[in-house]
Amino acid sequence: MLSIDSISISKGGNEILKDINLYLGPNEKIGLVGVNGAGKSTLLKIIVGKEEPDLGYIHFNGKVSYLSQEIHKEIVNDIPDGNDLTIGEYLIVQKGLDIQEWEINKFLNNMNMRDKSSDSILSELSGGQKIKVELIKILFEKSNLLVLDEPTNFLDIPSAQWLMAYLVNYPYSVIVVSHDLRLMNKGISKIWYLNDIKHNIEVYRGNYDDFLKQISLKDELLHKRLKAQERKAKRVYEYAKTLSGRGQTKEKMKAAKKFEQAKKEKEKVLALSKELLKSKKMRIQIPQPPTCSRSILSVEHISKEYVKGVPILVDVSMEIEKGERIAVIGKNGVGKTTLLKILVGKLSQTKGRYIWGKGTDVGFYSQEYEGLDYNQTVLENVYGLNWGDIDRRAFLGRFLLVGDMVNQKIKTLSGGEKTRLALAKLFANRHNVLVLDEPTTYLDFDSQNILLDALKEYKGTILIVSHQPQFVKLLGIDKVLLMPEEKFGYYKEEYIERVGII
Ligand SMILES: Nc1ncnc2c1ncn2[C@@H]1O[C@H](COP(=O)(O)OP(=O)(O)OP(=O)(O)O)[C@@H](O)[C@H]1O
Ligand SMILES: [Mg+2]
Repeated sequence: MLSIDSISISKGGNEILKDINLYLGPNEKIGLVGVNGAGKSTLLKIIVGKEEPDLGYIHFNGKVSYLSQEIHKEIVNDIPDGNDLTIGEYLIVQKGLDIQEWEINKFLNNMNMRDKSSDSILSELSGGQKIKVELIKILFEKSNLLVLDEPTNFLDIPSAQWLMAYLVNYPYSVIVVSHDLRLMNKGISKIWYLNDIKHNIEVYRGNYDDFLKQISLKDELLHKRLKAQERKAKRVYEYAKTLSGRGQTKEKMKAAKKFEQAKKEKEKVLALSKELLKSKKMRIQIPQPPTCSRSILSVEHISKEYVKGVPILVDVSMEIEKGERIAVIGKNGVGKTTLLKILVGKLSQTKGRYIWGKGTDVGFYSQEYEGLDYNQTVLENVYGLNWGDIDRRAFLGRFLLVGDMVNQKIKTLSGGEKTRLALAKLFANRHNVLVLDEPTTYLDFDSQNILLDALKEYKGTILIVSHQPQFVKLLGIDKVLLMPEEKFGYYKEEYIERVGII
């Protein structure tokens, strides 16, 4: 149905994809995986015709629907505030889909939006909720091929699980990218692994866990072959040396041949060790911050209404002390990001007040990269920072922003690369309080764990929103704010399932 024929593409002089050949049948569910910056989004854009490869062709007959990794931005431009289009009007009238109002309501219900219906005003939805509407649109286009670039990034867990279950039964083909491994194990029939060192794709049958088993077996075999090859190369070389030590011309000639063979055997060793090369990993450490008062933040009866009479936050109160780790837990649209933005002064509350303690210096990680200027380069983006004695290039290097990449414009960076830069900027500033809104969203699995370890070592205070139960659990949370009931209290193990389930 889809055939990818010798596709190659380079960007800024770097090879991204090299001679990719793939075939996709009529009802296949593909998980496309690879580290941040490997070229997954680039390949998807080429498949759906949004980008031209340098070489090669795509053959596809049928209809394709595509969800871009930058959907949250596109959606904001597509549906401006103040527009009173309803969800139903958007899907049925504007997009011309063959869908009934009751079906829309059923989808909204399945996507954990029970309080919304086909009559709800689209521009009043939260970012995550708008993405859900966009997903309903895509699923109802009933295309022969769905191409989804990290569709679950902005979804709460029940919606993400529902989506993946829906995709399993989708009667046509799907290619999906996600760094959420729980989801990559559901209903995926094949893994396309984009190897960022060789720039090609390896195909593995089964889901993500099967893929992991197969590559670890492959690595084990390669290690064995490498060891055996090293022994052989050494043996031939030693023999050649022995021969060359003997005086006779005949043996000297034989030795020359053996040296030649030893060189070839050595080349095979190098080729095998290249096969075993692994992607580079971040090596981050958060510089320890200056100390501050014991009382970090006092929030008193904060309420927020965007639209008069429609409360988002009702009477939120909490006290945070130095060194505590606080998680804000609740489903999409409940107002988590709104609360964080109020506390860092980016939005104003309707009622109530908050006071930051003496000497607190608050750093904010926004899911939407508000602190990055898309038309500037990586280096230009970090000029204004107070680097103190930190070596700027070395620090960026720890976040894998190396070589020519520092001169790349932000808009050309991959999702994970932008996240790494946003984190580098945040950590360089030695804040003693970190307010983090879904910091793992675009990071590949290894990078998520590396960030987790760095945050665990950090001595300052952390206020975090995350839909990753494992991340919240391992971070060691002291207290939680449960939303929408706005209950603040000590962390209990049982809340973990609410990180995803509520
Ligand atoms: N104009 C450019 N100059 C140099 N490099 C570029 C340019 N445009 C894109 N790239 C690089 O191409 C690589 C592939 O990007 P792509 O967005 O396809 O990665 P990805 O696998 O989707 O990553 P992620 O998991 O972070 O979303 C990245 O390293 C990116 O920096
Ligand atoms: Mg991508």
